[in-house]
Amino acid sequence: MNHREFHSLGRNVSEVGLGTWQLGGAEWGDVPENQAIETLQAAAESGVTFIDTADIYGSGRSETLIGKFLSNRTDREAFTVVTKFGRGSDPGWPDNFKHENLVAHAEDSIRRLGVDALDLTQTHCVPSEYLDDGSVWETMRSLVKQGKIKSFGASVESMDEAVECLNVDGLGSLQIIFNVFRQKPIDDLFAKAAEKQVALIVRLPLASGLLAGKFSAESTFGEKDHRSFNADGDAFNVGETFAGLGLEKGTQLADLLKKYVPDNATMAQWALRWCLDFPEVTTVIPGATRSEQAVSNAAASDLESLPESVHAELREFYKEQVEPFVRGKY
Ligand SMILES: NC(=O)c1ccc[n+]([C@@H]2O[C@H](COP(=O)([O-])OP(=O)(O)OC[C@H]3O[C@@H](n4cnc5c(N)ncnc54)[C@H](OP(=O)(O)O)[C@@H]3O)[C@@H](O)[C@H]2O)c1
Repeated sequence: MNHREFHSLGRNVSEVGLGTWQLGGAEWGDVPENQAIETLQAAAESGVTFIDTADIYGSGRSETLIGKFLSNRTDREAFTVVTKFGRGSDPGWPDNFKHENLVAHAEDSIRRLGVDALDLTQTHCVPSEYLDDGSVWETMRSLVKQGKIKSFGASVESMDEAVECLNVDGLGSLQIIFNVFRQKPIDDLFAKAAEKQVALIVRLPLASGLLAGKFSAESTFGEKDHRSFNADGDAFNVGETFAGLGLEKGTQLADLLKKYVPDNATMAQWALRWCLDFPEVTTVIPGATRSEQAVSNAAASDLESLPESVHAELREFYKEQVEPFVRGKY
């Protein structure tokens, strides 16, 4: 496993991390506790030291399970766990972004994760009125001063929001959607983020599994799985499900990419390698529902970079065949 520098934390993190929305047991269907803990352990044994979670994932379940996992490790200092707040139910959106609620929610995450201070917490897609008036960032800086968080970042939906957040004093990271189907950050964000030494955390690197090449237009998902109920954005930002392409278009495009996958890699590993070939990316956080996925994803770090010619072809592919079909805030 290779590592990259996370400047605001003054430490290196594994370039393949683990996304744990799945471990909440909601929006992806049930993930039993033993399966969740095994997934965390398998990721750790594969060299993963970076874990992304949020207070809303399973209403605290994901954080609680990570806390349990950490409490059983003698090397817990090796892990960087980043969480998010702002989308929970008490008092709910958008009042969660008021100072007193952010403070209370940071304290809740500290308790669930069983840590003295959060390594980093991210605003979970902050509403524009709070983004514009700057009060959220005042709270973040005061949490750092109080020692409740070591650093803070923003998880954003659009590149405009990402670029706006780069002007925030003290911002340590941006979490963005980035994958072969969502290449806008390359032109709009990467150089600016690198200049400011703001870490880029890549979510949806597999476009909700589309880029594992395992779905067809006829694939079905459980009732509780967001790929059933949010494929057209009926519950939240459509970009968070299948990168905003929908299942039919997404599988059609994924099929066109299969010819690029080398013999020594799975399509998911290849898709992760594509993200990692950009030095501006700090870490990718593929979500996993099972330990085998976490192990396989971690191995993408050891693959060779893709040839320049393939990168060039995939830029063209994106511009001509994908970009016109991406829906949602972007
Ligand atoms: N607004 C936000 O801040 C926000 C929004 C979304 C996600 N996130 C974070 O980003 C993380 C990653 O995003 P994501 O989980 O939505 O999307 P993703 O990483 O693109 O896709 C994850 C899904 O891909 C499939 N998969 C993973 N590894 C695989 C493998 N090796 N082989 C085959 N299939 C594989 C699994 O699907 P199956 O379930 O079918 O097995 C898994 O649930 C989340 O866990 C969460 O931590 C943050």
